[in-house]
Amino acid sequence: MTNPFTPGNGVEPKFLAGREEYLQEFSKSLEASENGLPQNMVVYGLRGTGKTVLARHYRLIAEAEGWAVIERELNGRLSDEGAFGDCFGKDIAAKASEISVKARVAETGKALIRTLKPESLTAYGITYKPYYEEPKRILSDYLEEILMGNWPVFQKAGKKGVVLVYDEMHSLRDAKEDKQYTLSSLLESIAHVQRKGARYYLCACGLPNLKTNLKGAKTYTERMFHFQQVGNLQEGEARKALVEPARREGFAFEDALVSQIIGETDGYPYFLQFYGYYLLEDSGKNRISSADFKAMRPGLLERLDKSFFEDRFELASASERKILLAMAKSGSGDVPLSDVKKATEIDDNSFQQMFGRLAEKGLVYRVGRGRYSFTIPLFKDYLKRIN
Ligand SMILES: Nc1ncnc2c1ncn2[C@@H]1O[C@H](COP(=O)(O)OP(=O)(O)OP(=O)(O)O)[C@@H](O)[C@H]1O
Ligand SMILES: [Mg+2]
Repeated sequence: MTNPFTPGNGVEPKFLAGREEYLQEFSKSLEASENGLPQNMVVYGLRGTGKTVLARHYRLIAEAEGWAVIERELNGRLSDEGAFGDCFGKDIAAKASEISVKARVAETGKALIRTLKPESLTAYGITYKPYYEEPKRILSDYLEEILMGNWPVFQKAGKKGVVLVYDEMHSLRDAKEDKQYTLSSLLESIAHVQRKGARYYLCACGLPNLKTNLKGAKTYTERMFHFQQVGNLQEGEARKALVEPARREGFAFEDALVSQIIGETDGYPYFLQFYGYYLLEDSGKNRISSADFKAMRPGLLERLDKSFFEDRFELASASERKILLAMAKSGSGDVPLSDVKKATEIDDNSFQQMFGRLAEKGLVYRVGRGRYSFTIPLFKDYLKRIN
């Protein structure tokens, strides 16, 4: 019997709970795109809710439907126009060459080339010139040229379109003060080429501030994207997420225990996987009761703190931690910043700076005017535990 639970980063669960509607919505939107209506998707949610896992399923669906898929995990460095331009040009050209080589091999029955050098790319109809070789070039023009230029290659190879799956996309931002308009350039170029009939589809996954960033970059993003919020699983689905993988491997949790775990984890996918995994691991039994859990609970929480929360908390400096702890104390739900400011007694200027850094580090995000929340589920409980 092997342990069927999968706590981790982007690790495929043995049972994908509660995502049927998401998958259907994605499939439908691909279909609408095929029928000529430009589509894009935003998948947003807190840490560990299953965005990366969902994105992989989207990839599989898209490929099965005859689309090409380009995946990339973004990071803050790519908010630099130059870095993004280079990376984008290479990604599109690499996929276009892969697709066209595959198509040619299928046609002729033999491999024509092993690796494509940039010089030989044009021979295959591929548009590619590194962005850095084009000084002062406006980024959106460059992106558009790459997208439009390579579209016929995808089309000729029989692809219905190209899905760009960008994970951690909340880290891509415009920095107007540094004249970096990376996010708006990307949105603009995608919208333009879609209007011209080139079937690209952007699937952007990230923390909830992704939504705010998109809106800040282009006012039309609300019309450009479908928005899928990924969160904790409803009771019935959370139950399946625990019971199903266990059952398939010959394990069982007592009913009352399942309810208890769902209550404690609030149905968050990562925590469900974590609890499931360590309950099986540590008990050494194949039927686990509430009494077993009771005995194991302190150890389990300690491990959860060490493996999940502590690293995140340590991202914050000593004074930023004061803010986090004050946020945790200030009642449930979203926190009004004014309350936290009052509680910490940090002067206004430093407070704003520190808070900005916490948001940059991806620990907090803006929920509404002057109201903030943690990006990590159950972080508040952790902060209370250690305080
Ligand atoms: N629908 C689901 N049912 C059961 N378990 C799931 C589901 N989705 C994700 N998981 C599990 O939850 C954990 C987190 O998944 P994933 O890494 O995709 O989250 P994420 O939202 O991308 O997190 P982050 O914001 O940190 O990147 C993994 O252990 C995964 O196996
Ligand atoms: Mg992820």
